[in-house]
Amino acid sequence: MAYQHIEVKPIAGALGAEIDGVDLSEDLGNAVFSEIQRALHENLVIFFRDQDITPDQQKDFGRRFGTLNIHPQYVPLDGHPEILPVLKEPEDTLNIGAAWHTDVSFLEKPSLGSLLYAIEVPDSGGDTMFANQYLAYETLSEGMRDMLEDMTAVHSDRVLSNPASAKNRNEGRSTLIREEAMTNDEICNEHPVVRTNVDTGRKGLYVNAAFTTRFSGMTEEESKPLLEFLYAHAVRPEFTCRFKWENKSVAFWDNRCTHHYALNDYPGKRRSMHRVTINGERPV
Ligand code: SIN
Repeated sequence: MAYQHIEVKPIAGALGAEIDGVDLSEDLGNAVFSEIQRALHENLVIFFRDQDITPDQQKDFGRRFGTLNIHPQYVPLDGHPEILPVLKEPEDTLNIGAAWHTDVSFLEKPSLGSLLYAIEVPDSGGDTMFANQYLAYETLSEGMRDMLEDMTAVHSDRVLSNPASAKNRNEGRSTLIREEAMTNDEICNEHPVVRTNVDTGRKGLYVNAAFTTRFSGMTEEESKPLLEFLYAHAVRPEFTCRFKWENKSVAFWDNRCTHHYALNDYPGKRRSMHRVTINGERPV
């Protein structure tokens, strides 16, 4: 069906589209917002250029999709607990998000989607890649799909919160883990390996290399070979798109059916973004 209020321009074959004709600093009417939602459901990740928005306007737009998450580990933006600064200073060696993942999948109700706003980006480098998890699921053999259908997997925040790895993570990074979040008490939850997106009815693969630790009822060692196969399959080049940021670009991705990866290929340069993360439902 054609769009009446916005222009939607796909940027790749697998997923991703740029949206024109929208000013996110304005109060969007329901007709415009429902086309934006449709564009998200059809393209999985959508991008807007040249948006002049304040932190409050970013949060207001995020709230159209659901309630906002306060990240359990990272230090938030001053005065805005719902905004995660995604910051890499020229002297930093590490960024956040440089592994294929879907946001906060270790929560009981992981994120529906994330809204990332570019404040300052390098002239080149610092792109973000996205991968379509519907395609990842649909291109598995029937035998593999049947086997995965009733399996669940454990997702843990330990890569962020475990005191040893959290301290290491804070070395060379400006986006910091809070001291009080560094604990051996893991946030751990089990989710279906094949997840149905309740908004589209489509099934996708829902395990990720950053937070999934094992299949339920199996050891990590037993789970590893199949998980590694699925992680590699999930991000085959033909399932991906790559977004080149400009200052004032916005991306909104559906965490239920995509993975993303923030490239760390801009040494000595600054990249500053604000992320708002929208709460989601318990995966089914
Ligand atoms: C993230 O993983 O949310 C960060 C993505 C990015 O910086 O491009």
